[in-house]
Amino acid sequence: MSQAIRYVRHGGPEVLTLDDVPIPEPGPGQVRVAVRAAGVNGIDWKLRRGFMGRGGPPAGPAGVGVEFAGTIDAIGAGAGVTADAAAGDGGGNGGWSVGQAVFGRVLSGAAATHVPADTEDLLAMPAWLSFEQAAALPVAVETAWRTLRRLDLKEGHTLLVHAVAGGVGLVAAQLARDRGVRVVGTASPARHDFLRELGVRPVEYGDGLAERVRAAAPEGVDAVLDASGRDVLAVSVELAGGPDRVVTIADGRAAEYGVSFSTGADGVPLADVFAEVLPLLERGALRVPIERTFPLERTADAHRLSEEGHLLGKIVITVP
Ligand SMILES: NC(=O)c1ccc[n+]([C@@H]2O[C@H](COP(=O)([O-])OP(=O)(O)OC[C@H]3O[C@@H](n4cnc5c(N)ncnc54)[C@H](OP(=O)(O)O)[C@@H]3O)[C@@H](O)[C@H]2O)c1
Repeated sequence: MSQAIRYVRHGGPEVLTLDDVPIPEPGPGQVRVAVRAAGVNGIDWKLRRGFMGRGGPPAGPAGVGVEFAGTIDAIGAGAGVTADAAAGDGGGNGGWSVGQAVFGRVLSGAAATHVPADTEDLLAMPAWLSFEQAAALPVAVETAWRTLRRLDLKEGHTLLVHAVAGGVGLVAAQLARDRGVRVVGTASPARHDFLRELGVRPVEYGDGLAERVRAAAPEGVDAVLDASGRDVLAVSVELAGGPDRVVTIADGRAAEYGVSFSTGADGVPLADVFAEVLPLLERGALRVPIERTFPLERTADAHRLSEEGHLLGKIVITVP
């Protein structure tokens, strides 16, 4: 038997239940992962509340969680030696094997004891990463990497990141700093010392933001990443001097402002992203703090904290 967090109707965290389910079989090109940790993301509760679909209840019991770390415990047809693995990227050593520690992303169902995962969205987990740390990485790192690529920043540019203390914001800020970009970021005052340690110039969000950003970045803002989604597109366009240098990942009104909205549909292969990012993590040049961990059976509390929206870094669910 396996256990999974699921819901059968949209709503608040209380609709989540821990269900006994048949152990999932990996399909062709998949492996089954015995999950040890799963990251929590905004998309988890946005899907659960029914904000992302076309209305109506879920078609059947829906799983939650889009990123995980764990060990492979079964291999589907054709997944033992993949072209990618043979080429020496994801699987390393010429293929995936039972017992191997991995991390990656799925469309849903990571908050469970077992999850089937496509090998193209899977990476071998280095021994120096913990399961909790690895599970916190795929979404934040891929989103940050993808949006920075879209903004095409050059050394010496100044980037403004809204919600810089969240998972995506922290990764984007540190990757940008590593590339010689100046970073100004919005966060509550309690985060400011930590942000300064990362080389970020913190400013408080809320009324008067434009003046505070201009004071923190007298050289001007070249580009903006909105990871907040809390009505900051107008001020972002004003500060960047136009909409083409602004990307949001969280504001559905992007088109009204002529700003591009980057989604997972523009997703980048994890192998490309982590080829740059793993060495930064290993030498401590990129830090992704974990605000709090919750055991699987308390996934609803993890969702509550995520939905409140005030945290430093990531929330992670642990699976015994
Ligand atoms: N489109 C995509 O591909 C994609 C991918 C990943 C995430 N997302 C979305 O992007 C957003 C960010 O996700 P995330 O996981 O990085 O972080 P998150 O956990 O959703 O955001 C938490 C952060 O938001 C900050 N915050 C709260 N109120 C704020 C405000 N008024 N102004 C600025 N910051 C504020 C908090 O800072 P304080 O604690 O200091 O208040 C906290 O650090 C979410 O909406 C998520 O769903 C989209």
